[in-house]
Amino acid sequence: MELKIALLPGDGIGPEIIDQAVGVLNAVEAKFGHKFTYTKALVGACAIDATGNPYPDETHEICLANDVVLFGAIGDPKYDNNPTSKVRPEQGLLAMRKKLGLFANLRPIQLFASLADRSPLKKEVVDGADFVCVRELTSGMYFGEPQGRDEANTYAVDTCKYTREEIDRIVRLAFDLAGKRRGHLTVVDKANVLETSRLWREVAQGIAPEYPNIKLDYMFVDNAAMQIIRQPTYFDVVVTENMFGDILTDEASVISGSLGMLPSASIGSKVALFEPIHGSYPQAAGKNIANPMATILSAAMLLEHVGLTEEGAAVRKAVDKALTEGVVTEDLAQKGEKCYSTSEVGEYIASQI
Ligand code: IPM
Ligand code: MN
Repeated sequence: MELKIALLPGDGIGPEIIDQAVGVLNAVEAKFGHKFTYTKALVGACAIDATGNPYPDETHEICLANDVVLFGAIGDPKYDNNPTSKVRPEQGLLAMRKKLGLFANLRPIQLFASLADRSPLKKEVVDGADFVCVRELTSGMYFGEPQGRDEANTYAVDTCKYTREEIDRIVRLAFDLAGKRRGHLTVVDKANVLETSRLWREVAQGIAPEYPNIKLDYMFVDNAAMQIIRQPTYFDVVVTENMFGDILTDEASVISGSLGMLPSASIGSKVALFEPIHGSYPQAAGKNIANPMATILSAAMLLEHVGLTEEGAAVRKAVDKALTEGVVTEDLAQKGEKCYSTSEVGEYIASQI
């Protein structure tokens, strides 16, 4: 198969982990006889430095001209400590999601069996945990207007807004996904307080009769935050609004042993985007210590998305091999155990394809 991949390494550890994912994709290409071509583009702080815009038009055009996008990470501390800065790297990521129409972010939370002992949670709690968080990605508090300050700078405002249509399409996608899995969908909201959450429930209730085989339930987000680490095996598919999904999936990554393990797929229109759920980890940038597995697993999701199921499975198997052989970066290494560099882990995984 010929596949055109836009590569957006972004900031911090982004370039290092993308390099390793490309190494693994090269191994897949050679082994299975495909032709992958790559076009690099700028997004985030590096794009601001080069063009003044965190998501330049040129990058958008490159995304549209390719079949899929593989993205690293975004963010730079020089902006975090400068709250009045008008332009921020994260705006690039939000603009990219919005302009590409990527309204659904699928974040699978899975535990590789070989990592059960490395999770900070008890083995009997995390054993068998396997659920997908469907995070709404292009609306809610991240995008609602008004957002900003009053002229006298005495207050700030963010707006959480959802239309019926925005809720309908993401909830349907989650119902469909639950139908392909264990048939259990949990809508996570704060319907005891928020009007947007009450609309989410209303829309979900309206759709439910079309999916009589799906067991549907609702959970308040504060309770969900607790249940996710108390009893993660309860969940099959979770659907939730943008910010709740952002927060809950960082929390859920603990189940897998490390934030450096979780991949994601953002879908919704012609071009799909694949990215690790972690951030740019600026403290580690350039040090060759970050865990490349979340990005490599994102590449596996990318392959599966375009129908290369066997290839995706080969990547997962190679990651599993690295884990069982203890070829892991410092975030996963246990006390006294040798840990490997980003490139050593990536090269080992590529060699196992
Ligand atoms: C994520 C990140 C982003 C988000 C940031 C970098 C804007 O945390 O992809 O989860 O909040 O969506
Ligand atoms: Mn996040």
